[in-house]
Amino acid sequence: PLSRRTLLKGSAAAACAALGAGLARHAGASAAPVPLTARPARLSIGAATGPSDVMTYSLDDTAEAAPPPVLRMRKGEPFAARFTNHLAEPSTVHWHGLRIDNAMDGVPELTQPYVYPGDGFDYRFTPPDAGTFWYHPHCNTLEQMGRGLTGVIVVEDPNDPVFDAEIVLNLRDWRLRPDGTFLETFKPRDAARSGTFGTLRTANWRDAPVIDAPAGGLVRLRLAATDVTRIYTLGLKGAAAVVVSLDGHATPAPLPLDQLDLAPGQRADLVVHMPEVEGTVVTLTNFRGSNPWTVASLRTVGAAARRDLRDVRALTPNHLAPFDASSATRIPLDFTATAEHAPAPSLCGSIGYTFWAINKVPWQGDTADPMGPLAELKLGKSYILEMANRTPHAHPIHLHGLAFTLLSSNKRTSLPPPTDTILLQPDEQAELSLVADNPGDWMLHCHIIEHQKSGMSAYFRVG
Ligand code: C2O
Ligand code: CU
Repeated sequence: PLSRRTLLKGSAAAACAALGAGLARHAGASAAPVPLTARPARLSIGAATGPSDVMTYSLDDTAEAAPPPVLRMRKGEPFAARFTNHLAEPSTVHWHGLRIDNAMDGVPELTQPYVYPGDGFDYRFTPPDAGTFWYHPHCNTLEQMGRGLTGVIVVEDPNDPVFDAEIVLNLRDWRLRPDGTFLETFKPRDAARSGTFGTLRTANWRDAPVIDAPAGGLVRLRLAATDVTRIYTLGLKGAAAVVVSLDGHATPAPLPLDQLDLAPGQRADLVVHMPEVEGTVVTLTNFRGSNPWTVASLRTVGAAARRDLRDVRALTPNHLAPFDASSATRIPLDFTATAEHAPAPSLCGSIGYTFWAINKVPWQGDTADPMGPLAELKLGKSYILEMANRTPHAHPIHLHGLAFTLLSSNKRTSLPPPTDTILLQPDEQAELSLVADNPGDWMLHCHIIEHQKSGMSAYFRVG
């Protein structure tokens, strides 16, 4: 049996071999672009569902359509993707959570032109942080993400500990009829509440998949909630686990997993200690709502390794600019319901309703209805965002290009690591620290896409 020490020195190749989803490793510092296309495809999602007209990302258009690949990058090493749009409508790629140049952020009109059908765009950047992130379009997102365009990014750190296996799960729903055709993307009544839920729940585009994992081993489970609506409350049945990273930022110490909220846009990295008996099933379960259900299962295979969860150490933290409380300026951010004018539906922004607002201004993130920045931030300066959720619904609030850190909240006792997406609970009032260290126009919006597209959008200008 391997000693505890070898556990931390094993081969990276072995760790990658056990991935549950497609895999693209980006090789070296040369940054030859990855050929990433968005394309329509026709395939069946659920075992009992007819074929659906989905949209997917692909690294090889001649290959059979598959779920979006896991994109692998290295912290501090250049990455490039040549994006080609084979959809029948404009699109872009946003790299959710990566603190990269504004020009690469993928927000049409705000940071780059639309990528029209048949056209392309070269994305080049160097990810500064290691962790689990994801990518998706920033145009007509209720439709494009709803039909499949959400993929996971793994940014590796050469210092990452090596586990017995690594499994990546892309968690999302689909609004499908039993025959596989798509339902309407949303219902206005639900958009004004907690959002319109899917009818088929999947992990890696499969309904409750069962994935092999090494018996007795330690498995790094990277979870990304990429659904347009669903907030999960996740727990494991049949195994103990610790949380080592949330939203791409290491927890100061591994935290024993009990139940974990994971909202649209958020990620969690768990280390799961698999049972030693071969054929044992561990379930990742969603406890939110009245009936718990299985998201995915891990089934033990192979001769039992003898690992110990107590050997798991904290991951190397990503470097954030130091926050200076004494000079910080406060920015109040009120998230409210509203009944303001509703702009007509448009291709990239409005869904034709206005239900939500930030600081009383409803905006759909649509350049057909241009809007100035919510606030202008000075490059390098520290800020405190005073977020107030004045609604009875939860809102995962996402900020592009920057990381913020929860300082206090009237709804929680323990504070998470820095993040790009904070789940504001109903009536929560929270203070977050922010260092405006990345220049440009950065979107701030709810990641329940119906909320975003019916008013809960804004942007900061850092300069
Ligand atoms: Cu995950 Cu504005 O995006
Ligand atoms: Cu919301």
